Amino acid sequence: MDITKYKELIAAASSARRLAYAPYSGFQVGAALATKTGEIITGCNVENVSLGLTICAERSAIATAVARGLRDFVAIAVVTGGKKPAIPCGACRQVLAEFTPNIKVVSATIDGEMQEFDLSELLPFPSQGILEKSRDV
Ligand code: THU
Repeated sequence: MDITKYKELIAAASSARRLAYAPYSGFQVGAALATKTGEIITGCNVENVSLGLTICAERSAIATAVARGLRDFVAIAVVTGGKKPAIPCGACRQVLAEFTPNIKVVSATIDGEMQEFDLSELLPFPSQGILEKSRDV
């Protein structure tokens, strides 16, 4: 894969990772979204003592971007400290698909291992049929 294309985005995700609040899992994650217009918006995971309330880095980045009026994305980099690149969880795939169903997902480790996906291969049917009105309501 072409590392140079995503170098800046991965560097931004890597910096964001240092701000992660992950005292329970010890697994720090940074994410960086690239918008169509060239902005980079970052996020990190924010854990909670009520574990299910944890916010992943990807969703944190999306919420920040939307709150800044940005909704058109082309790529997201996700950086973790494990041995293998981490691929966004199901919930984050769904939230990413809300805005950009074919966003490029670049997962990288701090040691430089990388994998690239198209979100449409990670979540092929993001919302078919959902909220279509049924006849019996
Ligand atoms: N996590 C993310 O932030 N993004 C992912 O893609 C995978 C998981 C976080 C959630 C939790 O804080 C920790 O990593 C362990 O699951």
